[in-house]
Amino acid sequence: MAVMQRIKAVGAWLDERLQLGSTIAEVAEHPVPRSSASWWYIFGSATLVVLIMQIVTGICLATVYTPAANGAWESLIYLNYQQPLGWYIRALHGWGSNFMVALMLVHMVQVFLFGAHKYPRELTWVAGIVLLLCTLGMAFTGQVLRFDQDAYWGLGIGASIAGRSPLIGPKIVDLILGGPIIAGETLSRFFALHVFVIPGLLLAFVGLHLFLVLRLGINEWPMPGRIVTREKYRQQYKELVQRDGEPFFPFAAQKDIVFAGLIILSLVVVAAVMGPIGPGGQPDPTIIQTVPRPDFFFLWLFSVFALLPPWTETFLMLVGPPIAIGLLFAVPFLSGTGEKSWRARPFAVVIVTLILLAIGTLTWLGTYSPWSPQMEAWTEAPVPPDYLKGRTPLELQGAILIQYKQCRNCHSLGGQGGMRGPALGDTAARLTRDEIIRQIVQGGGNMPAYGKNLSPAEVNAIVAFLGTMHPANEPPARDSAKPAEPAASQ
Ligand code: HEC
Repeated sequence: MAVMQRIKAVGAWLDERLQLGSTIAEVAEHPVPRSSASWWYIFGSATLVVLIMQIVTGICLATVYTPAANGAWESLIYLNYQQPLGWYIRALHGWGSNFMVALMLVHMVQVFLFGAHKYPRELTWVAGIVLLLCTLGMAFTGQVLRFDQDAYWGLGIGASIAGRSPLIGPKIVDLILGGPIIAGETLSRFFALHVFVIPGLLLAFVGLHLFLVLRLGINEWPMPGRIVTREKYRQQYKELVQRDGEPFFPFAAQKDIVFAGLIILSLVVVAAVMGPIGPGGQPDPTIIQTVPRPDFFFLWLFSVFALLPPWTETFLMLVGPPIAIGLLFAVPFLSGTGEKSWRARPFAVVIVTLILLAIGTLTWLGTYSPWSPQMEAWTEAPVPPDYLKGRTPLELQGAILIQYKQCRNCHSLGGQGGMRGPALGDTAARLTRDEIIRQIVQGGGNMPAYGKNLSPAEVNAIVAFLGTMHPANEPPARDSAKPAEPAASQ
């Protein structure tokens, strides 16, 4: 009992000087609309909780990490295998960043669909977009700090995109990398960004975001037909809270606490089960990796860049992101009043659905990047026997050439091989003999020309083999301008 009294006395002494008690009470007890204590309103607080975990685990990691080109990778290996629990802190931090990005996106979609960005909360949204950008910046710089093969090539790609800007391109590359190439200076810069610059911004804007949420009040549950106007909204909100408000703590905070607890629990489990993320192979510029993969939240961008037709690339890479970011900032100014409920805003629902579908599909494509050749595809998988049965010696020779000229790095046969080009299993059903010859000799459409690398006899053999590539019940394609070729020569 004496101990309790001591603690109380210390508390009273502090409160007299800090005046924190009343501030905390004000925050905890401020009334919120009864309708906002919903399971839909829990994602923002959960994001904040994961951010706090990231700060704690991040500080732990920074005490061991070596921000130098010749020590970064080794220090992560040290954390993974030697430092007690080092692997677990890395796992928490790595998966925590995934959790944070995911929660933040859900929060954003919820806010948008519930019209919470509308008057008078425009600046809360703007601060939120800054937080989105900061978080993605943290995710990207964090991935670079891993300094493995993926990080090295990912950064290389990022820098070469920036380098395409007219006039200032080389300057920007210099600024990002600390020189024209990825070296020790690069890592120092990313370390400074990841632990000082972006976290500083992030915390400042979290402060602003929360301040605004408290000042302006939590968005009420939107009802179709309840229109937001600049003249009346504030008064209506005040009346609503007076008539039907509840203190934030514990009424609304209960659900936040339960959900944040569940999130931390799943993070703790996921980190233990999945382990730390990387580092992959040590960065080595002499190993040309054909599929450097960014972390999942950048996979969709990676797919976009891979799929863009080459002539649009530079333009879209430089113009696309500023427009997209500008539009995000502009959302509350484009639709700052009017209906809040998603049920009365079909356009908003369609936009969200389209964006999510596009990002989802692109992310899915990015996980197996079908546009990249698989350099070893042909060594593992022999030509399936079905394609060899009853073939002439010339055709068999073609099959061998397809294998040894590594066509299967890009083309699959029997479901195995690269997916950069079309599967070869039904080529003859689609292309005539002449078209096949032209494609092989001249290449085109992202296929190299093989004219100089194959003798005419070899081309002949390959074409003979590919000529057999049509479903048994379907004849091979032929040129309608010519009479059908005799069976022996196809
Ligand atoms: C670097 C990847 C790559 C390699 C290696 C490659 N191709 Fe291709 N190939 C492609 C792409 C991409 C296309 C699609 C071209 C287009 O859409 O115009 C294609 C198209 C073709 C087509 C037309 C297929 C159709 O159904 O439209 C044939 C036939 C073909 N390649 C044969 C070969 C042969 C034979 C080799 C080996 C000597 C080879 N390719 C090596 C990428 C490759």
